[in-house]
Amino acid sequence: MLDKLKALKKAIEKVVDQAKDAAGLEQVEIEYLGRKGKLTALLKGVADLAEQDRPKVGALANQIKREVQQLLEVKKRALAGGQFSVLGETEREDVTEPGIRPPEGHLHIVTQAIREITQIFSNIGFMRTRYPEVDWDWYAFESLNMPPDHPARDEWETFFVDAPISKKGKMVLTPHTSNGQVRELERHELPVRMISIGRCYRRQSDITHVPMFHQFEGLYVDKQVSISHLRGVLDYFAKEFFGSGRTTRLRPHHFPFTEPSFEIDISCGICGGTGVGKDKQKCRVCKSGWLELGGAGMVHPNVLKAGGVDPKKYSGFAFGWGIERTYMMKEGIQIDDVRTPYKNDLRFLKQF
Ligand code: PHE
Repeated sequence: MLDKLKALKKAIEKVVDQAKDAAGLEQVEIEYLGRKGKLTALLKGVADLAEQDRPKVGALANQIKREVQQLLEVKKRALAGGQFSVLGETEREDVTEPGIRPPEGHLHIVTQAIREITQIFSNIGFMRTRYPEVDWDWYAFESLNMPPDHPARDEWETFFVDAPISKKGKMVLTPHTSNGQVRELERHELPVRMISIGRCYRRQSDITHVPMFHQFEGLYVDKQVSISHLRGVLDYFAKEFFGSGRTTRLRPHHFPFTEPSFEIDISCGICGGTGVGKDKQKCRVCKSGWLELGGAGMVHPNVLKAGGVDPKKYSGFAFGWGIERTYMMKEGIQIDDVRTPYKNDLRFLKQF
């Protein structure tokens, strides 16, 4: 048996050496190592040997099998290499040929807007944060001065999640980024200068609403923060984001979590805030000289308390606006339906 194995190995070495191409080599492989191959047959025969011979013969047989496999591998590579060295002679690469440019994408307009807004606020010391988009009722409503069963949950078109109710109430898809206010205060690092950006969800879909959209939420809490600080920050943002000629105005409004509360308007970039178009008619974009941006106000003492901050020592302001909406008011951007950026139509997206 040992002799047979050694003889077989010699025979294999010879045929492998003579093989001229990959096909020939494969033939050899099948003949010796295939299911019905000669070496395979010998290996099977080991089982029938007398017990005292089996270990020695078995070990050699396996060793030969490994060596043969290696031999085949080396030869295979040699043949393949040979193939390419011939190619190198017959087909030379033309390095002067112009390349093929791969398709090049860019960031989605919403991502671009998020980056720009983050940068503008970071320049005046506001840190970008992120808070959960699926959160407890406590953070989205109750801690924001909206007791259980307050109708605000309907006004915000809230999606409720079918999850077990905890001490912090039901679970909701956050309808605004204001859930970040108390979460940020809970970190107990004062003063707070936060810009929280995230996705929001509301049961709504029409030309000015999408069920998933983005908001950026500003929160500034420190000693002696006043409405003038709010105005200053808003004007700064308006000029940076929309252009130097733009200003903001505050209109009284109501939110449970701010007191006083405002709706923020920005002067229209088309008519320059006059409300009158070039044709001496009402401006077609704003009709009044102003465009509505979103809500703001001075943080309600109950919200500060919910976040563990003493309203006698600290005060603050907050604002929360939709990213898509704000971006659409940028000069030169003409998008008349908020849903368009989410249709994934490259003909549209490529323009930005
Ligand atoms: N969260 C409010 C909304 O989504 C906006 C807001 C934020 C108002 C902060 C006041 C202060 O409508």
